[in-house]
Amino acid sequence: MPLSFVSKLKNASNVFTFRDFILLPGRSDVEPRDISLASSLTKKITLELPFVSSPMDTVTEWRLALEMARLGGAGVIHRNLSVEDQVEQVRKVKASKLQVKSMDPQGRPLVGASISPMDVARCEALDKVADFLVADVAHFHNSNVLRAAAKVIPNLSKDFIAGNIGTRRAVHDIVAELPRVDGFRVGIGSGSVCITSEVTRVGAPTLFAVAEVATAASELNLDIPIIADGGIRGSGDASLAFAAGASTVMLGSVLAGTDESPSKVVTKSGRKMKVHRGMASAAARKARFALDRYSVPAKGLDEGVEAYVDYAGPAEEVLGGMANGLKASFGYAGAKSIRDLWGVATFGLVSAVGYTELGVHSLTLKGGT
Ligand code: XMP
Repeated sequence: MPLSFVSKLKNASNVFTFRDFILLPGRSDVEPRDISLASSLTKKITLELPFVSSPMDTVTEWRLALEMARLGGAGVIHRNLSVEDQVEQVRKVKASKLQVKSMDPQGRPLVGASISPMDVARCEALDKVADFLVADVAHFHNSNVLRAAAKVIPNLSKDFIAGNIGTRRAVHDIVAELPRVDGFRVGIGSGSVCITSEVTRVGAPTLFAVAEVATAASELNLDIPIIADGGIRGSGDASLAFAAGASTVMLGSVLAGTDESPSKVVTKSGRKMKVHRGMASAAARKARFALDRYSVPAKGLDEGVEAYVDYAGPAEEVLGGMANGLKASFGYAGAKSIRDLWGVATFGLVSAVGYTELGVHSLTLKGGT
């Protein structure tokens, strides 16, 4: 079989990232007060605010999950815990009497849990208490993972979000091989603490991955919502992710610095900071292997780092800022809702040389850091 390696290089896909694009201004009759950010998280669950906190052990435990539900978003409890402790975290959210905007049919706070389809006991235990399950697998488009998911899903009653994936092919295979799927978690290698693409040179950056998965879903006539996950630094990136076909965005580093995240505030060189770490970092993997002696390191490889993020204050302020930024963006684009944006958004491609002109430039900031 003659193989043309040169043509493989020449026919390579254009793999775009958030930094490569802007949205073009469109004709607009839209005022910020006309805009709704309500969106689908899964086939059955709708959120008033399209933000989901990431299942990372420096981001989402009961406190942030409850705050996400209060504000209209949703939190996903991480799985760097024993099954019992993860169930307990979910129960704590459920037991709160706080007034929340995201709720289950009984009026209790809505909360998700991360699982691996290979861990049947965890899936079944969390299915009994959480409102939705989010697969937390670096590469869901893997035959063993697909087989495990196909086996476990019939035993689950709650919505099941498959991920992470990043290609059209993955959507086709998932839909063909799984009995059902209620959402896609999309993006590989873009996370702030992620070094997967550095160590493996493999990745599907979030903006590209969302467009791929949204295109496949539309080709197959599927109405399955997409969570854009990884690398979202603020409202601008979120807006691009929505324009590319996402229904919600997942936030890790943006929320790791908030009051409600699990880690303590520390002072580094006079600045208040909080620890944030990749779930595949050496420290997080060590914690996982320590609590679960049956958990075997699948690959003897760290694919994340441990780092500090600036202390960011209450999650309400951070998410309020994100929501205002999104509304302004939708106003420029001429969209009243996320679905509307899918139709009207047009993209501009920014050159590497021109990129700096779109940020603060040619001056010295007063009181800058
Ligand atoms: P942000 O940029 O919001 O990204 O902090 C959060 C997402 O990053 C992914 N994640 C990882 N990816 N190695 C990775 O390759 C890791 O150790 C790791 N930890 C988290 C995950 O999808 C998360 O939601």
